[in-house]
Amino acid sequence: MPGCPELFEAVAPHAAVLTDRDNANWLQCWHDRQTGFHQSAVNPLLARFWPVLGLAAASRIFVPLCGKSLDMLWLAQQGHEVIGVELSPVAVQAFFRENRLRPTRRPVGPFTLWQAGRVSILCGDYFALTGSELGRIDAVYDRAALTAFPEDVRLLYVAHLKLILPTSGKVFILTTEMPDAGASPMKSLEADAEIVSLYETDFEIELVHVEQIFEADPHERVAHKVYRLSSRSVE
Ligand SMILES: C[S@@+](CC[C@H](N)C(=O)[O-])C[C@H]1O[C@@H](n2cnc3c(N)ncnc32)[C@H](O)[C@@H]1O
Repeated sequence: MPGCPELFEAVAPHAAVLTDRDNANWLQCWHDRQTGFHQSAVNPLLARFWPVLGLAAASRIFVPLCGKSLDMLWLAQQGHEVIGVELSPVAVQAFFRENRLRPTRRPVGPFTLWQAGRVSILCGDYFALTGSELGRIDAVYDRAALTAFPEDVRLLYVAHLKLILPTSGKVFILTTEMPDAGASPMKSLEADAEIVSLYETDFEIELVHVEQIFEADPHERVAHKVYRLSSRSVE
């Protein structure tokens, strides 16, 4: 990927148009309770493989596009400070209410910061987030964040992530990939080409684990993958 700040400058004028369209769709999903992506339990691959990052308990973890994910509670239970960003106030309110937490609320730039214990959520648009609002971050947890965007916006998502993160750090990604019909089963054991092309300039990418679900119908086969990305630059 070319230098990300330059790239982001070049594409940013188009970003607003692309993301306004998507934002309206996501807000509508939460309003209509069309939230099939939400998992009613902590993701088992998170609990199993998170230790490969080797983070200290006091680390600060960024959860972009966090929804009302219970994974944030699990991360906080490990002793981490968790900071999510989520567009929908419906999702943020549901997270705290359903987990019987009593958050404080205050404005931070264009965001509302909700906070209870070790979990904070900035309610607003990820693309409006700056490094100073985010603060120090030791690792990013991405489950269904990159892939929540259409392909034409994913480049912007990663460019923005690189802009707001400190130069060192780790990214932990969980994906669910559907192999193309007719693709060799070995293909499912490789790192996804899109993840490699988006991150490889700045991060060393390791595919830590692949779990293939074989169904009789090839269209229903999926591979759950766990990635550990480590920044190539050391602060
Ligand atoms: C596929 S869901 C994943 C949620 C969560 N990561 C999980 O695992 O349940 C994507 C989430 O991103 C939020 N979202 C979409 N675009 C956003 C944006 N530009 N800024 C902040 N949140 C956004 C949506 O409202 C939705 O809750």
